[in-house]
Amino acid sequence: MRKLLPLLALLPFAACAPKTDNATSDTLGADSARVVNVYTHRHYETDKALFKRFTEQTGIAVNVIMADDDELLSRLEAEGQNSPADIIITADAGRLGLARQRGYLKPVKSAVLESAIPAHLRDPEGHWFGFTMRARVFAYDKSKVKPEELRSYADITKPRFKGKVLVRPADNVYNQSLVAAMVAHDGTEKAQAWCAGVVANMARAPKGSDTDQLLAIGEGQGEVAIANSYYIGKLLTSDDPARQKAKNAIGVVFPDLNGHGTHVNISGGGVAKYAKHEAEAVQLLEFFVSDEAQQAFAEGNMEFPVKAGIPAAAVLQGFGAFTPDTLDLSQLGLHNADAVKVLEAAGWK
Ligand SMILES: [Fe+2]
Repeated sequence: MRKLLPLLALLPFAACAPKTDNATSDTLGADSARVVNVYTHRHYETDKALFKRFTEQTGIAVNVIMADDDELLSRLEAEGQNSPADIIITADAGRLGLARQRGYLKPVKSAVLESAIPAHLRDPEGHWFGFTMRARVFAYDKSKVKPEELRSYADITKPRFKGKVLVRPADNVYNQSLVAAMVAHDGTEKAQAWCAGVVANMARAPKGSDTDQLLAIGEGQGEVAIANSYYIGKLLTSDDPARQKAKNAIGVVFPDLNGHGTHVNISGGGVAKYAKHEAEAVQLLEFFVSDEAQQAFAEGNMEFPVKAGIPAAAVLQGFGAFTPDTLDLSQLGLHNADAVKVLEAAGWK
């Protein structure tokens, strides 16, 4: 008779919790059955359902530690070669690049991953692989702004938008990666000039999440916000009464970055340096680029599939076609430190 496998273990990792707890070490230490231990920044129902499907299909149990990405990196640092992590997943190529630079990831070869994922959305040497894409776009107040006024990222630095721009704080990785892409393309001076222009036009001191910027448009606190595409997709399909004002107010444009297209980022993962279940880890990464998983990411979480032939969610298609920047996203990690300096020098809090 087939041995019963442990149920999917979801083990939230509280910010101030000690490094391990009994449940965690018991579960993650088990080596007898086929398991894969996942450290992830993602906290979505879609992912939980996919882990469950993976276990049903392969018999491999998935143990999950969830934490924010900087906590995951600190944890890996503290654990060193005793880390039980087999896979590290974050929602930003910049953080995956940092994980690589700090030696937390190991390169793997997989024909499945290489054929499914465009080259610029994965590490050139196989340390990490993007399995969903998101665009960093503008949401604007349709009653006050014409979309033609927002063709490029530079447009929000014009006097027209003085006191009208809503952004989240500089410690946010999505903004850091947007600025890192600017640095990679055009150097630190231009990137800093753009940041200073945004700071000069802010509607209020940066605070909150991407979704908070969208809600602020609904409250008339600003006319244009920078946000990731999936947050807008979720808002526009939400029945939550608290979101209706923003839902009715918002239009979307894909800004151009100096002729390079719209800045995109990935959610992705790689195999941990000291993985004890490397084969299972690669199998899970390959499952993430299966048609089934790509459709689930697209429909369930409003992310753009990385694999050709899988359609985006209808609401995202409704934003219109766009040209994604094809910058090699390993550049985001390489220029993260520059981006942080540039944001700070520009006075972006
Ligand atoms: Fe996010």
